[in-house]
Amino acid sequence: MSEKFDIGLGHNDYTLRKQGDSDFVSFWSDQAKNLHWFSTWHKTLDWRPPFAKWFVGGTINASYNALDVHQSAKSDKPAIFWEGENGDSKTYTYGDLFIEVQKFSNVLKSLGVTKGDRVTIYLPMVPELPIAMLACARIGAIHTVIFSGFSSASIKDRIEDSKSKIVITADGGYRRGKIVKLKEVIDDAIEGFDFVEHVVVLERTKNKISILPKDKLWKDLMKTISDSCDAEKLDSDHPLYILYTSGTTGKPKGVLHGTGGYLTHLYSTFKWAFDIKDSDVFFCTADIGWVTGHSYVVYAPLLHGATQVMYEGAPDFPDVSRMWNILEKYSASIFYTTPTALRMFMKFGDDVPNSFDLSSLRLLGSVGEPINPEVWKWYYKTIGKQKCPIIDTWWQTETGGMMISPLPGLETIPLKPGSATLPIPGVDISVVDEFGSDVPPNTKGYLIIKNPWPGMLLTLWEDDEKYKNVYWSKYPSCYYPGDYAMKDTDGYLWLLGRADDILKVAGHRIGTAELESCIVSDCDVAESAVCGIPDEIKGEAIIVFTVLKDGVTTDKNILEKNLTTKIRIDIGPIATPKQIYFVSKLPKTRSGKIMRRLLKSIASGEKIGDTSTLDDPSAVDEIQKIITKN
Ligand code: WT7
Repeated sequence: MSEKFDIGLGHNDYTLRKQGDSDFVSFWSDQAKNLHWFSTWHKTLDWRPPFAKWFVGGTINASYNALDVHQSAKSDKPAIFWEGENGDSKTYTYGDLFIEVQKFSNVLKSLGVTKGDRVTIYLPMVPELPIAMLACARIGAIHTVIFSGFSSASIKDRIEDSKSKIVITADGGYRRGKIVKLKEVIDDAIEGFDFVEHVVVLERTKNKISILPKDKLWKDLMKTISDSCDAEKLDSDHPLYILYTSGTTGKPKGVLHGTGGYLTHLYSTFKWAFDIKDSDVFFCTADIGWVTGHSYVVYAPLLHGATQVMYEGAPDFPDVSRMWNILEKYSASIFYTTPTALRMFMKFGDDVPNSFDLSSLRLLGSVGEPINPEVWKWYYKTIGKQKCPIIDTWWQTETGGMMISPLPGLETIPLKPGSATLPIPGVDISVVDEFGSDVPPNTKGYLIIKNPWPGMLLTLWEDDEKYKNVYWSKYPSCYYPGDYAMKDTDGYLWLLGRADDILKVAGHRIGTAELESCIVSDCDVAESAVCGIPDEIKGEAIIVFTVLKDGVTTDKNILEKNLTTKIRIDIGPIATPKQIYFVSKLPKTRSGKIMRRLLKSIASGEKIGDTSTLDDPSAVDEIQKIITKN
């Protein structure tokens, strides 16, 4: 029996859970009323599996709900305390944001952006990033934010796929004290793209950049523009954004999110999971380039008129005390971070956080990967001083918002270290076997979601077929997230990692197929297979197996360096492998399928089972020898 921790916040409203579970449609209809609608919906859900339309006939605007609704009561309330990596800081009130967003909406209009156009945003973690997103949302343009750690080749694919008319970037961004030259990366990425009409450049680092014919400076555009721009009344299912994420094929998928359903999901989960109050100071460490940043840095806190801290740089810069320093400086009350960050902090011992006053904290969240019980308990004791519930939230880019999580803002249930506890109300989740039958308690199976939910993706950008195949074909009428899970006898869910060919490195999703196609495009490489092995800090680390072309005699150290550089250039530093092995053949089934799971077991030093289905079992012997030698 696992340990239980009872830390309630005094909320015991089990009626919502009952209502959600008995009639999720009317339940979400009630939740949607917390937002401002220009006109109300006549149908809550139009469900033509696997396509869901939420709040049909309703019109709404995300930027209006984030800003306009707070102007009468909160225009002087801080929305964002921004902390630069180099120690710069700046406060944006709800009133300030309102003006900046309206101005930038007018800038976008003046550049010819209209409803439905795509705008790529490649910015560091500066306030102009949410400002640009909200400006797009205000006029009905679809933003597509690209994480500023991605390389120009990855950006090229994404801009080409979304056919963005405008790209917004900065001269540079600060990362661990160095300047990342974002503008240079964009210049490279959009070469030959006639459909990109303008590049808006924000000055952050003031490093030298070349000004090309399409470039316009943010500050020039904002100088004389009007600061009033009404929010467009948009259909509830109007696309708010595309966010690209790795899948099991070589090409990233453009996850498309809508407006009314998505915002309803965020408003509700932020309230239930974090018990958000007017006096709270929320700090989420996620980069806005990932979905956590879209949902719980930009949209959810602003919908609630909350105050938050936004941090520009690396969590361990100038040293590992930076996060605790920020929490103390702003008296933050809610902290939301990743198990990878926590494992890193834990490694440096308790003295570091203990030398800061963290008494303002009342809730602690975790997201992105399974949190191991040891880290959960450290977070609970050392950071939360045994008074803050740990909110382990399971969800995905595709789900838009939290799906499984403790909800102390709603109800009190005992917490178990390592379990994300129960689904949110209105969401029906099962753990099933290969054939879709529920597995017995405490048995590993596949997680499935049996009803549509408001934050769910609309589809994949211009690829309905792929949307159907990836998420809705394994189990009829059920959404398949690609995760392993287990339900215990109390009905608590334990998330056990990916069941497909996607790795989670430091909480970031990396497709093995994407990496493999990058590696085999090297002229020396014939074949490649990628797998993940457990890593003490990052959760998973990347291992690459490579078969070279006949006749390649280059020194293996040089080849390893070249391949690593190629991966960093083509995908980005987050995909850097821990180890590259050169082998003469890969283990395959008789039908020619590479057995990645077997490679993973060998590379992790696990016992391997029966290899009789292999086409050539000697492949395994060779790999075992090479790995033991290392
Ligand atoms: C995958 C989604 C959730 C937003 C950030 C990541 C894994 C996420 C948890 C958790 C165990 C988790 C799953 C999921 N994951 N949260 N609390 N416990 N695993 O979004 O990049 O779309 O990744 O992250 O494997 O499928 P993402």
